[in-house]
Amino acid sequence: MSQVIREALAAWLTPAESSEHRIPTALRSTGVNISLINVAQVAVNELETDGDAAFGFISQGDLVVGFNAYTLAPGSAGAATAALSDPEVRRWLGESSVQGRAATISPLSAQIPQQPEEISQPKQTNQQQEPAQHSDRTEQACVALTFDDGPSGSTTPKLLEILTDKQATATFFMLGQQVRSFPDMVADIAAAGHEIGNHTWEHPSLPSLDKEMIRQQIADTNRAIADITGRTPTLLRPPYGATDEAVTVISSELGMAQIMWNIDTRDWDHHDPAQTLAAVKLARQGDIILMHDIHAETIAAVADVIDVLREQGLTLATISDMLGDTSPGKIYYSARSEEGER
Ligand code: NI
Repeated sequence: MSQVIREALAAWLTPAESSEHRIPTALRSTGVNISLINVAQVAVNELETDGDAAFGFISQGDLVVGFNAYTLAPGSAGAATAALSDPEVRRWLGESSVQGRAATISPLSAQIPQQPEEISQPKQTNQQQEPAQHSDRTEQACVALTFDDGPSGSTTPKLLEILTDKQATATFFMLGQQVRSFPDMVADIAAAGHEIGNHTWEHPSLPSLDKEMIRQQIADTNRAIADITGRTPTLLRPPYGATDEAVTVISSELGMAQIMWNIDTRDWDHHDPAQTLAAVKLARQGDIILMHDIHAETIAAVADVIDVLREQGLTLATISDMLGDTSPGKIYYSARSEEGER
């Protein structure tokens, strides 16, 4: 990133604490003659060269530019995200960019990767659930830790270290855009024996998309993961747990089971290791536990989470180890078929 742009952005971006800023005002105040599309282009260049930035439009038309730790500030500040409001975006974008934006967002509702807002329970839309499959592996009192929205350059390495120290396995539901940004991390996770699942490319609510876009969100992410690991994921975690008939049909066609959860730590909401730990203490055999490896406070809880689960006689397993063979399209909330989905 050119020095002048980096300085302009650094002057206006305050990483970690506040994640929403308005580029145009700040850039105007710096006196740097730069248009928003330049910023977007810089972000794209960064992404393609050394993976230092990502950008995208969210549903309201706002432009989101994300920078990894170290790009704009000391690494301890973590990743930084800037959101630009729709009116300002439109004012700053050129004609062709406006068209590109329209094509990009409609009807997508992508998420700011650093700020996922999972709902507390998976949504069910016109969906008749089938019982989760019972495998004999669940007789070993397994439980599955799942980490969504990563990998993150700033937090995932530490998680991987903890899991290795504890000799624990987990399942990572990755966003394609993060996979593209952190290919080495993906390779490390796979090499460590963890399972990698698909969390779509950029975290849209899939039922809001048309069929081609649903397929693209899933297939592109599968391809990105397979390019690195040599294995195509068979597990899909729909963002927000939102699914419907179309998502189910496409998942089935792509050979993917839909993996929800039945224990939500709400780590993204409270950012409190104690609350994450408290949620996990309720875990029983066959449970699927939802966490996010993009928050430092989540990582801070993981060692205790593992200890607490083991003290309860539970063995940590990947989703596939716990569920056994999964059926494409089918929705799983836990491995406890005797009580239905939850
Ligand atoms: Ni998510």
